Amino acid sequence: MNPLKEKGIPLEKQPRSWHNIVKRPFNKNEVDCYSRTRQILLNGIEVEAWNFKHAFARLCPVKEITQKLAEIRKIEDQHQTTINWLAPSDQSVLETTLGYEQVAVDLTAWLAQNEPDEYVKETFNFGLLEDFDHLYRYSQWYYMTEGADPDDILQAQTDVMLSRPTQNHHNDNKLRLRKHYEKTEAAPQTKVNILTLVSGEQQTHNYYAEHGFFYGNDILRKTYAEIKDIEEEHVTMYESLIDPTETWLEKLLIHEFTEVCNYHNCMKDEEDYRLKSIWEELMLHEIEHLHIAADLFKKYEKRDPEEVIGNKVVDPCHFKSQKDYVTKILETEIDKRLDTEMGYTTIDELPDDWPSYEFQEKAGEDGSPSEMTIRIISTSAGRDLVLADDSLKNDEVKLLTKGLESIAQAPDTVTPEELEEMIETSDFSK
Ligand SMILES: [Fe+2]
Ligand SMILES: [Fe+2]
Ligand SMILES: [Fe+2]
Ligand SMILES: [Fe+2]
Repeated sequence: MNPLKEKGIPLEKQPRSWHNIVKRPFNKNEVDCYSRTRQILLNGIEVEAWNFKHAFARLCPVKEITQKLAEIRKIEDQHQTTINWLAPSDQSVLETTLGYEQVAVDLTAWLAQNEPDEYVKETFNFGLLEDFDHLYRYSQWYYMTEGADPDDILQAQTDVMLSRPTQNHHNDNKLRLRKHYEKTEAAPQTKVNILTLVSGEQQTHNYYAEHGFFYGNDILRKTYAEIKDIEEEHVTMYESLIDPTETWLEKLLIHEFTEVCNYHNCMKDEEDYRLKSIWEELMLHEIEHLHIAADLFKKYEKRDPEEVIGNKVVDPCHFKSQKDYVTKILETEIDKRLDTEMGYTTIDELPDDWPSYEFQEKAGEDGSPSEMTIRIISTSAGRDLVLADDSLKNDEVKLLTKGLESIAQAPDTVTPEELEEMIETSDFSK
């Protein structure tokens, strides 16, 4: 479909009653894990849609534009309430956190496989392995804190396994900056893919920032702080892929198009009838926002919106199990690192003065909470919790050996030798 030609719901008909805005939450024990990931991602999309319009308005002297932004922004805010508050009150912070990292893993894997730009794809694969490790660290805490099985949330669609160790994700943030796409050459799919992921990562950062302190456990609080720092790096990395010379109206157009595409993709995939009808209704709102953005773009920039977004929707968020793809990237790219020229290198090629070592040394000088996580679970269960096929499980020590830097290790690092001993002496299974 070409959303520029579809009919949406007129803006004046978009405000809703409180009963309609705040809907009944889903049941956390019955919801499909990918309905939950859709709900988490769409919330991130709406937060970005709202935030961006504030940033734009603060810099815009044109009354017609700021008035339209004000009108639409209030609708975006209502959307955010509707979406985020579908989460039930009995879904714990750690359960929601597992949902966030499941979004990051399975969304990034989907995007990487549907990304036409090779460099952008490589960047997605790089981030993928980091969120995959976050899921593993948080899963240990879910088991230890709530006595529950991570598969209660993940429903065996996403593996739980160590990856590039979290303590190695901390960088000199300047190294995260990537080369940006060229706005006149990039495919609409690339623009939407990146903005979708930026929105998801930004909301993940915000969620950890606002909820990590809900737990009293000192090491768990610090684990949230440590992983939140990586999500900041992820936002920095992915947003730097966007061409900064796009105009504000061009960016508005891409934002509304990204909302349309995400709702469209979610509506198409959703099997829960009630949720499907919500995604559909809000998609019809978004089509109208897109028309307004397109009209402003034509009027003030005298350009054709199709030059920017093309003439059909793209699929930025098809959720499905990505175990095979993640395993492939894990086995081949766990030792990848950021070089100082906006590219990638491997651990064995890093110079002794690699700028990120300094940050890792400082942050981890008293220990790394994500490493301590594994030490703590091993004191009660003998080893870490892993949910994966035996073939992948058997590679755990080998992967850690390949993926762990030998310089700037935190003093409480679980070494490959220690991990091997834990595995040999424990028969722990969840
Ligand atoms: Fe929206
Ligand atoms: Fe993450
Ligand atoms: Fe992330
Ligand atoms: Fe919108």
